[in-house]
Amino acid sequence: MNVLSDRYGRHFPYLRLSIVPACNFRCTYCLPNGYHANPHAAAPLNLAEIARLLRGFAAVGMHKLRITGGEPSVRHDLSDILRTAAGIPGVRKLAMTTNGTLLSRRLGEWMDAGLNAINVSVDSLDRASFARITGHDRLDDILAGIDMALAAGLASVKLNAVLLRDVNDRELPAWLDYLRDRPVGLRFIELMQTGDSLAFFREHHVRAETLETQLQEAGWEALPRAADAGPAREYRHADYAGRIGIIAPYSKDFCAGCNRLRVTATGDLRLCLFGEFGIPLRPLLQDDNQLEDLVRAIGGQLVRKEQTHHLHEGRTGITPHLASTGG
Ligand code: GTP
Ligand code: 5AD
Ligand code: SF4
Repeated sequence: MNVLSDRYGRHFPYLRLSIVPACNFRCTYCLPNGYHANPHAAAPLNLAEIARLLRGFAAVGMHKLRITGGEPSVRHDLSDILRTAAGIPGVRKLAMTTNGTLLSRRLGEWMDAGLNAINVSVDSLDRASFARITGHDRLDDILAGIDMALAAGLASVKLNAVLLRDVNDRELPAWLDYLRDRPVGLRFIELMQTGDSLAFFREHHVRAETLETQLQEAGWEALPRAADAGPAREYRHADYAGRIGIIAPYSKDFCAGCNRLRVTATGDLRLCLFGEFGIPLRPLLQDDNQLEDLVRAIGGQLVRKEQTHHLHEGRTGITPHLASTGG
């Protein structure tokens, strides 16, 4: 099989597909004023276009697919998309990143469709603070959904908390209680600077190193980095069922292990979360006979993938917020 690799020897078995730019939350660091549709924007890819796109990526070695948004569950045909994705030969892991609003109601349906991993954003375990960050007082229901996913035996359940100075950066004790008996992977994410969030970034960005020191002092042990590891540095502790990961995009070598490509809701291939351009694949998704052209187009673009993002230099590219690129 023609497996994708770039000029730096990285392989790309992992595709992150955004299926909708809209979101029903208004997280302070992402969409503080909520999502506003651009009336001139193209509609998201339809189910047939998504199926063709996934067949193309499967043909070049994609075996892990993550559905993202915006908030993917805003789409009414989400279960059809999941079922289609699960049926593509080669897709072994079908994951979704969600804010969890529909998790407790739709988990069974999504699992029946083939979903086997979820990452849920939970920025705080404190109800008031969660509501302040996300604009919605939904913490209890989302936590109930996560426990349902664990009880149902979903293969992988991860939680994401974006670290915000003076907002949620002193909640480690509550998180440790939570992780004692729950086999989830909690990842603390360093706030990333996007085009819309410059002032917010200056006020709330906090380096994850402080937290890593606290973890080490509490007896958490850093795990060796697996060759196919995601962006998180991982820690474990014998007294806890859960694990903790740190996602620090400003750290050196963050991009060395990059194993993923992205496609936006309207079918643009993005070579990096902070990529400055998208390559429109939609014209190649209109007919089943275009598979070969699609495969050639994907492979041809990879030579343009850069060695690292430019966050270090304070360059944010055109990414206004991460909801637009699928996180
Ligand atoms: P796994 O597949 O479970 O490893 O998930 P993940 O951590 O890649 O996915 P998730 O959607 O939960 O993203 C968690 C955080 O990592 C988000 O804040 C993403 O924006 C960030 N992230 C994911 N991939 C990249 C990347 O390639 N570059 C950068 N800078 N950040 C990324
Ligand atoms: N910095 C870091 N993480 C972010 N996310 C969204 N915007 C940002 C940002 N500016 C996170 C969400 C979600 C994941 C997909 O991306 O909290 O967990
Ligand atoms: Fe929505 Fe996720 Fe952005 Fe929050 S971080 S507003 S849940 S897309």
